[in-house]
Amino acid sequence: MTQPRKVAIIGAGNVGSTVAYTLMQSGLAREIVLIDLDRERAEGEAMDLNHGLFFAPPVDIRAGDYDDCADAALIVITAGARQKPGESRLDLVQRNVAICKAIMAEITSRTSDAVIVMVTNPVDVLTYVAQEVSGWPHERILGSGTVLDSARFRYLLSAHCRVDPRNVHAYVIGEHGDSEVPVWSMTHIAGVPMRQFCQHTCGRNCTTNEREGIFEQVRSSAYHVIESKGATYYGVSMALERIAGAILRDESSVLTVSLRADGHFGLQDVCLSLPAVVNHNGIYRVIEAELSEREQEALHRSAKVLKDIIAQMEP
Ligand SMILES: NC(=O)c1ccc[n+]([C@@H]2O[C@H](COP(=O)([O-])OP(=O)(O)OC[C@H]3O[C@@H](n4cnc5c(N)ncnc54)[C@H](O)[C@@H]3O)[C@@H](O)[C@H]2O)c1
Repeated sequence: MTQPRKVAIIGAGNVGSTVAYTLMQSGLAREIVLIDLDRERAEGEAMDLNHGLFFAPPVDIRAGDYDDCADAALIVITAGARQKPGESRLDLVQRNVAICKAIMAEITSRTSDAVIVMVTNPVDVLTYVAQEVSGWPHERILGSGTVLDSARFRYLLSAHCRVDPRNVHAYVIGEHGDSEVPVWSMTHIAGVPMRQFCQHTCGRNCTTNEREGIFEQVRSSAYHVIESKGATYYGVSMALERIAGAILRDESSVLTVSLRADGHFGLQDVCLSLPAVVNHNGIYRVIEAELSEREQEALHRSAKVLKDIIAQMEP
């Protein structure tokens, strides 16, 4: 039987262990199990985290194995090779597809009602692969997608407009990667459309160059962080805490997670990020907002990038 607050994290590297750390502090999970090829690493991370338990809400943390996936409510997959400096997310494909298939074979050889959240890159492609090889309902396998990119977008807009990021509503959709799309037409601050907000505060709209500059920073964020410190893990782990909250607390939160498009925005047979309602079953429904013509075209270009990769993958 599923333990409603049990989380299995596969991959106890930078991202997996930081997700565990973030979840531990959130009080969302009652049990966190770390699973890694490198068992010693998983045990070391669990030990280190346990030493902080005096300062956190009660939670059992330990290293485990795939049997722990059977009764988990949430399985987070962070295992795999990570981007090397200068390497694009898509270069990782073949290496991580093989790892993803091996992990999914382990999970699906046990009966499980869990929701799976893929984090390993290229996250959209691997979400698609995981859905294909598992035979599970598509809504129960999603990717962290552009939740992090949307947060980066909000942060940069908040700095530009000098307001709290929590009052900025802005979405990045499409691929979690170079072809991702900023949805300027849906961007608003405290309910005021961005254009109107700019008029009120600066007396003018942002120029196209200013907008492109802000979005370029979003798109290149991961590259800059990886160049400076080798990996990104804090931002994504906080994004994961948000996604885990939507699932474990059945929140019906709107998040730009990676999901299987099934006619949404005119897209089919590809996983990419769209604004969706996320609850204890995973994806409840996609919110089909009206995009501008430019955004719609960019979203279709992004889907094509992903479909081309899927088509080129070794079987
Ligand atoms: N989606 C996002 O927003 C986002 C953000 C940051 C990183 N990532 C991705 O997350 C992944 C992990 O990054 P990281 O920095 O934690 O890497 P890392 O190298 O620190 O950790 C990866 C871990 O996976 C383990 N592993 C490898 N193959 C395995 C297998 N078959 N079964 C179990 N464990 C296995 C390794 O032993 C290692 O501990 C990368 O693909 C990275 O690109 C995604």
